[in-house]
Amino acid sequence: MSRIVHVNGEFLPEAEAKVSVFDRGFLMADGVYEVTSVLGGKLIDFAGHCVRLARSLGELEMTNPHTEAEWLALHRDLVAKNDIVDGMIYLQVTRGNPGDRDFAYPAADLPPTVVMFTQSKPGLADSPAAKTGWKVISVPDIRWGRRDIKTVQLLYPSMAKMAAKKAGVDDAWLEQDGFVTEGTSNNAYIVKGNRIITRALSSDILHGITRAAVLRFAVEAQMEVVERSFTLTEAQEADEAFITSASAFVMPVVEIDGKALGLGKPGPVAARLREIYLDEMRKAAV
Ligand code: PDD
Repeated sequence: MSRIVHVNGEFLPEAEAKVSVFDRGFLMADGVYEVTSVLGGKLIDFAGHCVRLARSLGELEMTNPHTEAEWLALHRDLVAKNDIVDGMIYLQVTRGNPGDRDFAYPAADLPPTVVMFTQSKPGLADSPAAKTGWKVISVPDIRWGRRDIKTVQLLYPSMAKMAAKKAGVDDAWLEQDGFVTEGTSNNAYIVKGNRIITRALSSDILHGITRAAVLRFAVEAQMEVVERSFTLTEAQEADEAFITSASAFVMPVVEIDGKALGLGKPGPVAARLREIYLDEMRKAAV
């Protein structure tokens, strides 16, 4: 079924939506994006995604084309027009179409390109993978140095995902200077006893919106949270591991580079955090 997508203020059937060949997003990966989940027709942690979008745009000296209220209305319109019950809303803002290719940024008053579309995923929160857990391999993290900006330059994460697929596993954990940074499109955690360990925020990783919520819920549930780097060996010897993202929520990791963690099954901490996260976020959904 054809989707209704949003391009620069218009809602159109996907086949009619067009962006210029000179768009900076296409030529330079000069754009940022957000992915917000929809559960039961409502947006999960919308405010968090809006704050990070504004920050990503600001870091790249791009003007935010919409207020939070306008973004919310656009998201809700798209959910309604596509009858989305469970799934995701993808939103991208690029520096726009300057009409030619040039490394220098165009004038700041050039209108940005705004594209939004839906991805319907019925039963998104009931993913069977959450019961069995993900297997991951490690690959070197050779991405650029500003991973805190959510840009659309995702070729290396795609290559890492393909390496994982070729290895017959679910995802790759990226490693830099002997420490895990994050997954291809998610934040990474290990668990030792009652202690949850995850890399501290810096420009080395994306500041996950799900990460912020999950760590808050973990502390509220009397779990200990330690924000520090960890090695792959430490991860392989951990009791549990998991990842978080807006589309996978909390997903257990049961194997790293062929080594099973614990009993090779999702652990109780990841399962509990997934349950709390989904319960709380459904209640707060807009
Ligand atoms: N990816 N780290 C990276 C590199 C990511 O791309 C993502 C999200 C995350 C988790 O962030 P959040 O919890 O805000 O979703 C961490 C999205 C889901 C994507 O690219 O589809």
